[in-house]
Amino acid sequence: MFTKQTIRDIDLSGKTVLLRADYNVPLADGKITDDYRIKQSLPTLEYLLDHHAKVVICSHLGRPSGPHDTANSLFPVAKRLQQLLEKPVEFATDCIGEPAQKAVKGMPAGSVVLLENLRFHPEEEANDQAFAKQLASLADIFVQDGFGVVHRAHASTQGVTNFLPSVAGLLLEKEVDTITTVMEAPVRPLMAIIGGAKITDKIEVLHRFIEIADFIAVGGAMANTFLAAKGIDVAESLYEQGDIPIARDIMRKAASEARRRPFVFAVPHDVVVASAIDKTKPTRIVDFSSHVIADIENYPKRVPASASQVHAHEKILDIGPFSGSFIAGGIQLANTVVWNGTMGVTETAGLQGPVGPYAHGTDLLVQSLLGEFGHKPFTVVGGGDTVGYVENRNLVKSFGHVSTGGGASLELMGGRKLPGVEALKDKE
Ligand code: 3PG
Repeated sequence: MFTKQTIRDIDLSGKTVLLRADYNVPLADGKITDDYRIKQSLPTLEYLLDHHAKVVICSHLGRPSGPHDTANSLFPVAKRLQQLLEKPVEFATDCIGEPAQKAVKGMPAGSVVLLENLRFHPEEEANDQAFAKQLASLADIFVQDGFGVVHRAHASTQGVTNFLPSVAGLLLEKEVDTITTVMEAPVRPLMAIIGGAKITDKIEVLHRFIEIADFIAVGGAMANTFLAAKGIDVAESLYEQGDIPIARDIMRKAASEARRRPFVFAVPHDVVVASAIDKTKPTRIVDFSSHVIADIENYPKRVPASASQVHAHEKILDIGPFSGSFIAGGIQLANTVVWNGTMGVTETAGLQGPVGPYAHGTDLLVQSLLGEFGHKPFTVVGGGDTVGYVENRNLVKSFGHVSTGGGASLELMGGRKLPGVEALKDKE
């Protein structure tokens, strides 16, 4: 249960609210390529406006090098927000000082101002109290709704709460509530599907899931490090040589857990390889367990040794069909699934259709998660690349919960306290 006060617990009428959102959205040539985070902030915004508050929104975008890093301006976000809200959104060219004060002064109830990127000031990340006080001076109440950034103790997530009554927005409440419930009281069996590039980003979450989940499947480039830790030559594949001891440690812990209780820790036993990330280049299935037939043409002849090896010039780009089927089958037995990280390179489009040459593993999982094989578990989706994939396929509404947080959701799942949540007022 969420233990912090929210906007439902306070009087908002006529008040100026400083709303921290996470509008750290991807941009290409000044255009927003994924507005999921903006859309997810709308229920809180609409609630504040319906309750006659004046809303001053602050956010960061990217990791700007300084105040003139215009590529990281929030101006395109103001435009998009205006379209989505169907009402004017004024843009202040600085988040503190005269531009901010001028934009806020004389705001009528029910109006919206978006302040320029907080990170144009290094004081934001330094959690500088004087900077936090300046931000706070713009409003009567602080509302934290930027779930994606509450794992940071910055001026706009922690410092500002020293100067204003501070409560949670509806998105933050939903995110923390859903993720905490899944981790603390899941409807079992609980399955975790963890992909992505680096084990180091997911160590805590892997350890926690080994303790609480019934089935863990790893995929993505991270799985290559597990394969290398098992002594498999992954050739040109992306993997972290330095993380091999971590991978071994995790596999040891998983094996000991599996001796204690029914528990599965699945590392891919077959993969899709190619010589380059290029949809015109042929792909090949490599089966490390070599008891399945990788070369259907030659069946029932003996499978050549090369079918179980990644060649020197090749890289692993997806999990193989047998591993995909095994995980998809596991999903059919689960009632709750946490999915963070795609199984392969999903950004490359296909020669025909949306599923690219290295997205078949992820696609098979998606089919299973969405109930195409009969059973549909409650699924929590997190992580930038995973959410991007789900968004591109227009499938957000089909999942139980698609998180706006990357690092924040991982830290919450890993059992860490989030400074931006801790700083808010407790429920009375
Ligand atoms: C994110 O995209 O994960 C959040 O907006 C936090 O961004 P940061 O990692 O740059 O602090």
